Amino acid sequence: MHKQLQNELLTQAKQWTLEAGEIIKDNIHQPTAVATKSNHKDLVTVMDERVEKFLTTNIKQKYPDHQILAEEGFGDIVTTLDGVVWIIDPIDGTMNFVHQKRNFAISVGIYYDNIGYIGIIYDVMANQLYYALKDHGAYKNEEKLPTLKNDLLLSESVLGFNHSWLMKNRYIDEENMQNLVKKIRGVRTYGSAALQFAYVAEGSLDGYLSMRLSPWDFAAGLIIVNEVDGLTTNISGEPLDLLKQTTVFTCHPQIQQKILQNYLT
Ligand code: IPD
Ligand code: CA
Ligand code: CA
Repeated sequence: MHKQLQNELLTQAKQWTLEAGEIIKDNIHQPTAVATKSNHKDLVTVMDERVEKFLTTNIKQKYPDHQILAEEGFGDIVTTLDGVVWIIDPIDGTMNFVHQKRNFAISVGIYYDNIGYIGIIYDVMANQLYYALKDHGAYKNEEKLPTLKNDLLLSESVLGFNHSWLMKNRYIDEENMQNLVKKIRGVRTYGSAALQFAYVAEGSLDGYLSMRLSPWDFAAGLIIVNEVDGLTTNISGEPLDLLKQTTVFTCHPQIQQKILQNYLT
């Protein structure tokens, strides 16, 4: 992608994301009707749809030839990552939005021919905007984040998991997970995949593991973590497929192989 287009898209995507955040903030105290999707844990509100419509309408108007992959269905049916593709989660952490009115994020990733260029994760209620531009570093509210090159022992690491590793599942050996939890310093669960990617990028978490995420949950985070030299794969250590649900492990480079080899495979 040309430099000029990269800069233009970054400025534009940041602006629309901040505007979408204003819509949420202006309405945060309005009663919210909550519907469930695939099961009782999978929530959607009119605000998820309103934010997604706001973003997709703006994108389609200004960039009619760009593709949009978005959670709530206002984007396109995307089957290839050719050309410019926006991957959007209008509210990541809808359960937090509903139950806490905080700790949720708008997540926007922009790819060109399958390569990630721009990642934006906006923690709306905390006014924290994380973003990255390929090969130009990652930022939190315009302050550059340092790369993850500090020495780090597993015994000093704090990892983000959600409840799914507690359930019997085909991916993970329970005893391995118990041993990992014993070995590390602590576990945190924040309820937003995008925010946990941002926390790995800023170093407040050292890794984040999920048994099943969709492309809109990780598209932006992957780019932001890349820019600080963090590593993101599935739990077999393979690159993520941006068109499929997948296991996800994003991590500080010093402990990534240790966890993958000793606990996840
Ligand atoms: C969810 C959140 C949550 C993760 C789920 C996602 P949503 O996204 O990121 O932290 O554990 O797997 O589906 O539904 O709030 O956009
Ligand atoms: Ca999500
Ligand atoms: Ca969502």
